[in-house]
Amino acid sequence: MISIDVIVGLQWGDEGKGKIVHAMADKYDVVARFQGGPNAGHTIYVNDRKIILHHLPSGIVSSCSYNIVGSGMVVDPSTLIEEIKALQSVVPDVSDRLYLSYRAVLIMPTHTLLDRASERAKGDSCVGSTQRGIAPSYMDKTGRNALRIIDILRSDFESMYRRLKTKHLKLLKVYDAEDLIESLDSMEDKWFEAIEFMRSLHFVNEPYLWEKLDNVSVLAEGAQGTMLDIQWGTYPYVTSSNTISGSVSVGLGVSPKHIRKVIGITKAYTTRVGNGPFPTEMPEEIANVIRQRGGEYGSTTGRPRRCGWLDLVALKYATIINGVDELVITKTDVLTNFKPLKVAIDYDLNGRRIKEVIPYLEQVKPIYQDIEPWQSVSFKDKNFASFIDIIEGYLSVPVTMVSYGPRKEQIIKVKAKGTMAY
Ligand code: GDP
Ligand code: IMO
Ligand code: MG
Repeated sequence: MISIDVIVGLQWGDEGKGKIVHAMADKYDVVARFQGGPNAGHTIYVNDRKIILHHLPSGIVSSCSYNIVGSGMVVDPSTLIEEIKALQSVVPDVSDRLYLSYRAVLIMPTHTLLDRASERAKGDSCVGSTQRGIAPSYMDKTGRNALRIIDILRSDFESMYRRLKTKHLKLLKVYDAEDLIESLDSMEDKWFEAIEFMRSLHFVNEPYLWEKLDNVSVLAEGAQGTMLDIQWGTYPYVTSSNTISGSVSVGLGVSPKHIRKVIGITKAYTTRVGNGPFPTEMPEEIANVIRQRGGEYGSTTGRPRRCGWLDLVALKYATIINGVDELVITKTDVLTNFKPLKVAIDYDLNGRRIKEVIPYLEQVKPIYQDIEPWQSVSFKDKNFASFIDIIEGYLSVPVTMVSYGPRKEQIIKVKAKGTMAY
């Protein structure tokens, strides 16, 4: 019997999913990514070393035997190999415990160029993508043109590659972006070297792994966040995959019946990288303090993250869509002694008070409740306990972990409401 626990981001990404997966991974046989690609940047600390993972599951430095790059992902071989090589000094057996799904889609160098070209053409209304080739590669997947990992084992791989590249070059012309092609040769050299290395790795046809393993426990690691979901996020300012818990079944070839619980991660405030609506965004002078305290700069692109207050309306929406069973709140240390402190409890839509995430979220203004600042992240601090109570009460979901620092040990596990386990 397979049982799957799912970690999903409930906001616009960067909630601390990597840290939480790293903290939990030892208890599981398998950690698997099921969507997204190198747009993700999941930060973990190992022996004082900061490691940012883009494709590799954050269980890779734990004892679990299988780390899966799942079929719902898009994979850039150049970045993947850099990641593996960088990790080898910390985890010498990294490639022994790594399994690549045959069906994951390959991001080609021209996908990256097309991402840049498309963003440039959109001008001020660009999404603010990570420029990692995510949208163009998922477009080729749904357009039924993409190369998949299985294809690197075919003898005609290079001609398949050339055919798709020719199409991409035509598209770049349409974008008037031939200047971007300058860097293509060196990108391709690196890419084909990485493909060669990939041929030596383990591959997996996921459904049969689930069949083979008896009584297996799986931690499915989401990337991005619910508000960036292609369907349920703040479209069109979203990523190109389904980021929600329902995506696990599709991305890992497993029945949804096997999902045991969904663990939602939220920061104690909110951040967003890139463009698009963000109702609770703070004035820049407050955002700047949070950004400094919380180190809010993109793990993948280094861009300053936009910062805002916790948005309980959006969080409630995310808990409904994902079926969140347990909530983890991260970065509570960043708000210690922070004044003023508030959370959004309603939206104002043209003078009407609503509790609903609507398809054009730029139309709403948040209505806030003030929060008394806490002096320490401890349930003995009544203001901190009351902050957690407000969140649990609003969402009707228990908070089971509170994170107060980037390292995996910096977690308070909560047994029952307001009771500290350790
Ligand atoms: P992810 O994409 O969801 O894995 O999150 P990122 O790694 O992109 O961003 C989270 C950032 O916050 C990283 O720099 C983490 O090291 C850091 N972090 C995670 N949890 C905490 C926490 O509780 N407190 C503080 N101060 N930093 C945290
Ligand atoms: P993790 O897994 C935060 C954002 C980009 C942009 C939009 C589309 O680390 O939480 P894309 O490159 O996917 O086409 O960009 O989505 N974005 C993220 N923001 N964390 C991420 O991943 C993100 N992945 C994509 O900034 O606004
Ligand atoms: Mg991140």
